[in-house]
Amino acid sequence: MTVLVTGGAGFIGGNFVHFMRKKYPEERLICVDKLTYAGNLSTLAPVMDDPNFRFVKADICDREAIYKLFEAEHPDIVVNFAAESHVDRSIENPEIFLKTNILGTQVMMDACRKYGVTRYHQVSTDEVYGDLPLDRPDLFFTEETPIHTSSPYSSSKAGADLLVLAYHRTYGLPVSISRCSNNYGPYHFPEKLIPLMIANALNDKPLPVYGEGLNVRDWLYVEDHCKAIDLVMRNGRVGEVYNIGGHNEMRNIDIVKMICKALDKPESLITYVADRKGHDMRYAIDPTKIHTELGWLPETKFEDGIQKTIQWYLDNKEWWEEIISGEYQNYYEKMYGNRS
Ligand code: NAD
Ligand code: DAU
Repeated sequence: MTVLVTGGAGFIGGNFVHFMRKKYPEERLICVDKLTYAGNLSTLAPVMDDPNFRFVKADICDREAIYKLFEAEHPDIVVNFAAESHVDRSIENPEIFLKTNILGTQVMMDACRKYGVTRYHQVSTDEVYGDLPLDRPDLFFTEETPIHTSSPYSSSKAGADLLVLAYHRTYGLPVSISRCSNNYGPYHFPEKLIPLMIANALNDKPLPVYGEGLNVRDWLYVEDHCKAIDLVMRNGRVGEVYNIGGHNEMRNIDIVKMICKALDKPESLITYVADRKGHDMRYAIDPTKIHTELGWLPETKFEDGIQKTIQWYLDNKEWWEEIISGEYQNYYEKMYGNRS
C-alpha cells in the first residue's frame, strides 16, 4: 500500500504523517509539499530517514511534476491537505487561494484519474457552511447544511469540494471529503489563534483579540482529526462527505484567558483590535454521521489537549522561534501594526 499525502510539511498534514508512520510502519508514505511560508521541513525531521517515507518538494498545481511522481510511485490512496489555509491572508490576497485550493485540487484529481487510485480524499473544512448565529445554540452543521461561504479562503475550499463531487459523478473517481472544525496541537503555525497567543504571551507581547472576542469555534485536538481522516479514507463510503468535530465550542476570549492562566501571564496583555472583515460568528459540527457509520469519537478532552499543546510550545521553542524571527515579522507588522 502506498499513500500519497500533500501538504505534509504543514500543521495537520505533518501530524498526519507522524500518525501514519506510527500506525502503519509497513506502508509506503510519500509527502508532496511546496514548502510555502507555512511548510516546515523541521516538522518532518523525525521521519526523514525512514526507508518507507519519501519527501518531494513540488507544487500541486505543477501538472508535470505531479504526473511524474504518480508514474514513479503509483499511489493507492491520495490525501490532499495542501492548501493556503489562513483566512486573514485570503482577505489580503485571494488569488493564491484560488490557484492552490481549486486548481491544485484539479491537478491532483486529474493525476488520480490518469494513473488510477482506490481513493482520493479531500481534506475540507467546516467553514464551507458559513456561520451560525450565537443565539441559536440548538443549530449545528450537518453534511446537508447548504454551502454558504464568507471569506475567499472558505469560498476556495467550497469550490474545491464541488469539483471533487463533480469528478465523482462525471468520471466515477472514488472520492471522499471530510469537513473538520478548528484543530489545535503541535506544529500549528503561529499566525493562528492558539499558537499566536501562546508565542505572544511567552514573549510578554500584546494578545490581539479581534472584535469583542465573542466568536465561537469548535476545537478538536489534531490527532483526533488524523484518526478520523484515516477511517474515512479507508472505510468511508465513496462519494460521501463526513463532518468531523467534537462538540467543544469555546469563545475566543475564553481561550485567550485560559492561555494566560496556564502560562501565569496577566490578562492585561489582552488587547482588543479591529475585527476581521466578514468574521464568522460561530462554527459547530454535528459529527453523528462519522460516529454512527465509522465509530469515530474524539479522544482528547480540551482541558488535556490545551495543556499538552502549551507544553509542546514550551518544549519546542526552537521550532516556533525560528518561524517568528523571519519573514513572519513583516507579516505581523502588516496585519497587526496599525490594527486598533
Ligand atoms: P497549513 O497552512 O499549516 O499547511 C499547508 C501546507 O500545504 C504547508 O506545508 C504548505 O507548504 C503546503 N502547500 C501550500 N500550497 C501548496 C502547493 N501549491 N503545493 C504543495 N503544497 C502546498 O494548513 P493546515 O492548517 O495544516 O491545513 C491543512 C488542510 O486542512 C487544509 O486543506 C485546510 O483547509 C484544512 N483544514 C484545516 C483546519 C485547521 O484548523 N487548521 C481545519 C479544517 C480543515
Ligand atoms: O474551522 C476550520 C478552520 O479553522 C480552517 O479551515 C482554517 O484553515 C483555520 O485557519 C481555522 O480558521 P479560523 O479563522 O477559525 O482560525 P484562526 O486561528 O485564524 O482564528 C480563530 C478565531 O480567533 C477567529 O474567530 C479569529 C480569532 N482571532 C484570530 C487571530 C489570528 C483573533 O481574535 N486574533 C488573532 O490574532
